[in-house]
Amino acid sequence: MTAPSTPFMSIPAAVSALQAGQIVALPTETVYGLAADAASGEAVARIYAAKGRPQFNPLIVHVFDADAAGKIAHIPTQAERLISRFWPGPLSLVVPLKPDAAVASLALAGLDTVALRSPEHPIFREVLSTLGRPLVAPSANRSGRISPTSAQDVAEEFGGDVPVVDGGQCARGIESTIVGFTADRPALLRPGALSVEDIEAVLGEPLASAGEEIAAPGMMTSHYAPNAALRLDAHRAKDSELLLGFGGTKGARLDLSPSGDLGEAAANLFAYLRSLDREGRPLAVAPIPREGLGLAINDRLQRAAAPRG
Ligand code: TXA
Ligand code: MG
Repeated sequence: MTAPSTPFMSIPAAVSALQAGQIVALPTETVYGLAADAASGEAVARIYAAKGRPQFNPLIVHVFDADAAGKIAHIPTQAERLISRFWPGPLSLVVPLKPDAAVASLALAGLDTVALRSPEHPIFREVLSTLGRPLVAPSANRSGRISPTSAQDVAEEFGGDVPVVDGGQCARGIESTIVGFTADRPALLRPGALSVEDIEAVLGEPLASAGEEIAAPGMMTSHYAPNAALRLDAHRAKDSELLLGFGGTKGARLDLSPSGDLGEAAANLFAYLRSLDREGRPLAVAPIPREGLGLAINDRLQRAAAPRG
């Protein structure tokens, strides 16, 4: 028997691979991302192929800082205020693309806007600064599946096919919040690891909601799906179900946060869904308050529970 190939890679090897147009999974503070040189259409195509992702779904461009962002897009004043307060960190901004920006059009699915984020994880930052150019990075899962929050999760998604730099468990555990700056008012396109309340406090006005159309094209109804069926707002498990609790739920197999802390619950969400899913039984999930980070947690749970297409 041959030993299974290990997908783990060092930071310098990851930089070389990215320079050569290969894809590498890297840790961020939210979830692991599947990174590629944003300027290379061929490298970007490898991401879509590995994920099995619909090509109309645009990718987030990850930059080192605000200067790098300014080379790619026009940054409105209100967006600048969020950048100076929250970057590096779990906030993505959708802003108008500059016509001469060095971003492969495949990565943007033909849009004239671009989602920009400056991640906080030291490994991702080291790769960005050594490389000296932006990276696109969707979550490092196969399309429609649970986002990975550890290097082992990435290995589980792709086997030995995709190399990964091990940066431990992601501190936030849920994707960045996406705010759009392409209409009259800033709009919430995806709830995420930065709370709406924190963003509105800096903007001094409420965020508009995304509206009827699918504002972030990737926000398809069924997403983040475990293999098992999922029942939400459950107070107890029935029949063969396993219960995922919150705030000390009685009879829970795992509790997202026994003390009822929403940040802790967000950090544990995907890892616990993956772990329970391995047992091959239907899942029931206790109610989670719809405030603060609870908004993003409920959003992900609803997509995980939605009928599969
Ligand atoms: O925390 C995160 O944001 C992680 C880490 C790896 O950085 N990345 C992530 O990427 O969640 P992904 O590809 O799984 O989700 C990106 C979302 C998709 O829903 C996509 O449709 C949306 O961002 N998006 C990207 N560009 C957009 C644009 N120009 N306008 C509207 N939505 C956009
Ligand atoms: Mg994703």
